[in-house]
Amino acid sequence: MKGKNILVFGGSGQIGRHLIRRLTKNNHMVTVVTRSIHRKGYVLKTQGNPGYLDIVEENIFDEEKLNNLIKNKEVCINLIGILFEKKNNTFQNIHVNFPSIISKICKQNNIEQFIHISALGIDKAKDSNYAKSKLEGEKKIQTNFDKATILRPSIVYSVDDNFTTNFMTLLNRLPFFPLYYNGETKFTPIHCSELSEIILQIINENICSEIIECIGPQEMTFKEILQKLIKLIDKKRLLIPIPLIVAKLMTLFFQLFPKPLLTLDQLKLLKYDNLLSGNNKSNLDIGYNCKLKFEEEIEKYCYMWRETGQFSKKDLNVN
Ligand SMILES: NC(=O)c1ccc[n+]([C@@H]2O[C@H](COP(=O)([O-])OP(=O)(O)OC[C@H]3O[C@@H](n4cnc5c(N)ncnc54)[C@H](OP(=O)(O)O)[C@@H]3O)[C@@H](O)[C@H]2O)c1
Repeated sequence: MKGKNILVFGGSGQIGRHLIRRLTKNNHMVTVVTRSIHRKGYVLKTQGNPGYLDIVEENIFDEEKLNNLIKNKEVCINLIGILFEKKNNTFQNIHVNFPSIISKICKQNNIEQFIHISALGIDKAKDSNYAKSKLEGEKKIQTNFDKATILRPSIVYSVDDNFTTNFMTLLNRLPFFPLYYNGETKFTPIHCSELSEIILQIINENICSEIIECIGPQEMTFKEILQKLIKLIDKKRLLIPIPLIVAKLMTLFFQLFPKPLLTLDQLKLLKYDNLLSGNNKSNLDIGYNCKLKFEEEIEKYCYMWRETGQFSKKDLNVN
């Protein structure tokens, strides 16, 4: 199959890196836009074979530069997203204004496909600014470019994530861990490589004008996720349900960190189940059935959080 010219925004992140590897291995030519080639170049350069990957440092709000970048591209993918706001990095700018600008430019330049990564459950979480901004961004895109395909993944995990890796670090250090909303919120985690495979399929089959929810094969509560991680890192930890008011006070403290462990807005999001809505298509409807099991995949990298690493045995019999 002849490869396509693909422009990727947010390619240095968890999903971006997995996706670039998938795309370039399948003969697609990728141009990645980053804010800082010095900070992100080293991780990006190794994701594709020479000749298949071009890295560009650019301001994503410079419309003239975006117009130049989009020329000769067939597909544009937007993976830019933030979990908390900082100075000008507001939800409005990143989740609404940029998707609006880039989808308009894609339309003006007659791009074949614009693929945007949103998030599962955003239509329910009406009190979260993150969710509201993601939803507003989707609406702008649909108005500007009717052929856009929007993906709404559940929580995405891999060795490069900020989810299982952060939790394993915290569970390693803390003797107990708070359970928000009694740990009952349900999730359907999807492995990053399977989400990348879904995006590749959307490009190869030229799927357009859809909202597609993407979920992994297992449904788990927050408490079950933590229990699995505790077992994987071979620790004994107390999981303590905490009242919402205490959770809010703790979160106010966490918010003081430059990279907050949790924000009040994320605490609100944690209240809502992260499951298929039933209102949109899902990866199952486009014939992609995720198979990778949460415990089995994390077992491949969890040893980094165990006491003695990957190869240690209790009693080695050496003569
Ligand atoms: N990870 C999940 O569990 C999950 C779940 C549902 C939805 N999503 C969505 O999927 C998308 C990708 O997620 P991810 O986990 O791969 O994210 P990530 O690892 O945090 O990477 C986000 C990317 O956004 C870019 N970025 C951030 N702020 C920017 C700014 N002000 N200007 C330009 N670029 C900026 C960064 O690129 P540079 O630093 O190179 O510029 C970075 O590569 C996001 O939209 C996210 O909301 C993720």
